[in-house]
Order: sequence, then C-alpha cells, then structure tokens
Amino acid sequence: MNEVAAPRLAPPPVPIGTERLTLRHIVTDDLEALRYYQDPEVCRYLPFPPADDAGLADRVAKMTTRLAPSEPDEVLALAVVHDEVMIGDVMLRLRTRTDPRTPPSVAEIGWAFAPSYAGRGFATEAATALVGLAFGHYPLHRLVAHLDPRNERSAALCERLGMTREAHLRRDWPEADGTWTDDVIYGLLREEWHG
Ligand SMILES: CC(C)(COP(=O)(O)OP(=O)(O)OC[C@H]1O[C@@H](n2cnc3c(N)ncnc32)[C@H](O)[C@@H]1OP(=O)(O)O)[C@@H](O)C(=O)NCCC(=O)NCCS
Repeated sequence: MNEVAAPRLAPPPVPIGTERLTLRHIVTDDLEALRYYQDPEVCRYLPFPPADDAGLADRVAKMTTRLAPSEPDEVLALAVVHDEVMIGDVMLRLRTRTDPRTPPSVAEIGWAFAPSYAGRGFATEAATALVGLAFGHYPLHRLVAHLDPRNERSAALCERLGMTREAHLRRDWPEADGTWTDDVIYGLLREEWHG
C-alpha cells in the first residue's frame, strides 16, 4: 500500500503581540535570559535537572531550531519578551495523530518564567496567546499539560486557562534518580476554547 505522508504544516505566524508581551522565536543571544534553567527552584518540578553551562548552551541551541513543528514530537519554542527583556518561554509539542497521512491533532503546552517576573500575570498572558496560536493555527482538537501535582502555580495557571484537571497518574514519571513521581494531566478541547 502506498502511504502518502501528511504535507508539512505552514510555519506559525510569529512574532505574536499581546497587551504587554511579544512572543518570538528564540535566538542564541537569549542564553543569558534563559539562565533560569540553572535555578533549582525553577526546575524543581520540570522533567530535567538544573542545567550546567554546557547543558544550557545545548538547550538554547535546540530551542533556536524549534521554529515550525509539523510532525509528532516536533516543538515550537517561543521567547516571551516584556519591555524588551526576555522573561520566560513557552512551548507547544505536537503529539498524537490518527495516521501518518494526517497532521497531529493533540499537542502539549508548557512554560517556564524567570522568578523575578512571577505573580504579575505574564505567564497567563503568554500561555493564553500560545493556546490561541495552538487552536488558531494548528488543526488540533485537544491540548494537554502534564505537571507534577506539587506544582501548584502551574496547576493554577492551567485553571486560569480554562483547562480541566482530567487525570492523576500515580508514580508514572521516571526521575533521573530512579524514583517515580505522579503526573497530573490537564486538558482543553477546541470547543472549550474561547478564542
Ligand atoms: C508555572 C509558572 C509559569 C507560573 O507563574 P506565575 O507567576 O504563578 O503565573 P502568572 O505570571 O500568570 O501570574 C499569576 C499571578 O499574578 C496575578 N496577576 C496579576 N495580574 C494578573 C493578570 N493580568 N492576569 C492574570 N494574573 C494576574 C495572579 O492573581 C496570580 O497571583 P498569585 O501568584 O497571587 O496567585 C511559574 O511558576 C514557573 O515558571 N515555574 C517554574 C517552571 C515550571 O514549573 N513550569 C511548568 C512545568 S509543568
């Protein structure tokens, strides 16, 4: 049987402007701003440990290539800029599709912000724009977020986005030290999105 691969999806309409923020592609010069990935507090509930300098450089290099996802596991990474300062990043990872001839229709969203910019609604504003991009540009029917159940700030953000806490999976996520942590899943369906 001849399988016809799905055509690549169009690149997303980036940069995106919101009331206080710009979401744009990540560039190598963002490395200093991205040093929050070396902060143990920021990484406490992320699925990877704080980066050393070489790890951070690798992470930034990878992020600069995450421009136009189309296939499962491809990622869009965006810098969040306020008053010309990069204050955080958001990501969209394409996930599941029905078969290789169709584009993914489930994707995962994620975020991390510099602690000095916490508590002012910037993550909510950026994530709202990301959800708008996800449903506005990509043919998705569902968005998910995975989080450590102890990550209350991230759970509160999911709830501000109108997501539903759908599942609590016990000891589902493997940690580097051989232990397992729980995984909470939030979901948002296209018809629940108030875009
Ligand atoms: C998850 C994370 C992005 C949430 O950040 P945050 O600062 O709580 O979220 P926001 O920027 O949306 O700010 C929300 C706060 O600002 C307040 N706020 C002020 N103005 C606001 C506005 N215009 N809109 C929304 N909230 C506003 C809210 O009331 C809320 O206050 P609270 O902290 O007293 O509850 C942040 O904790 C983080 O980067 N964590 C580390 C990385 C991480 O764990 N990522 C997720 C992995 S799943």
